[in-house]
Amino acid sequence: MAAGALSAGPAGAQPATAQSAPTRPAPGRPEPAGLLRLQVNGRPVTLAVDARSSLLDVLREQLHLTGAKKGCDHGQCGACTVHLDGQRVAACLTLAARLEGRAVLTIEGLSAEGALHPMQQAFIDHDALQCGYCTPGQIMAAVACVQEGNATSRERIREYMSGNLCRCGAYVGIVAAIEDAAAKMGRG
Ligand code: FES
Ligand code: FES
Repeated sequence: MAAGALSAGPAGAQPATAQSAPTRPAPGRPEPAGLLRLQVNGRPVTLAVDARSSLLDVLREQLHLTGAKKGCDHGQCGACTVHLDGQRVAACLTLAARLEGRAVLTIEGLSAEGALHPMQQAFIDHDALQCGYCTPGQIMAAVACVQEGNATSRERIREYMSGNLCRCGAYVGIVAAIEDAAAKMGRG
């Protein structure tokens, strides 16, 4: 009878002995997703992220912003460089779940109102790329290098861009592009 069923306790409740310890995901299964709110290229974004996801994977696989590239996935090549609250970071080493309320800028958000950023234009003008795989990361790092005040000489540019590798060896053009753009950005 219905009253008997109610007196037995909450529907679906298990006997104390049957309550199991918190379960862990099976190996290879994703960790539980948490809700993350952040700004990406000036737009508010809310999404569920796996607790172990890198910012790079969230950008590329969940937000489909594929400009930042996965080169080494170990913080050694710079192909994944984006800006976090105005500072350059390796997105492959940045845990997405810890970015609540932060602002991310990717290469897709760099140009304004259809006009290329001076650094993007300078890379074109100085032939600063060949295959282009490293280029989004180079440009994001280069913009940060200028904004940090570290583009005041070729030697300094080389030093402060040394975390961004180019397998095609386009370094001469990259340094020239940064010098050129720095002047146009008022920081050279
Ligand atoms: Fe992030 Fe290489 S992919 S540093
Ligand atoms: Fe090919 Fe840099 S342009 S890796």
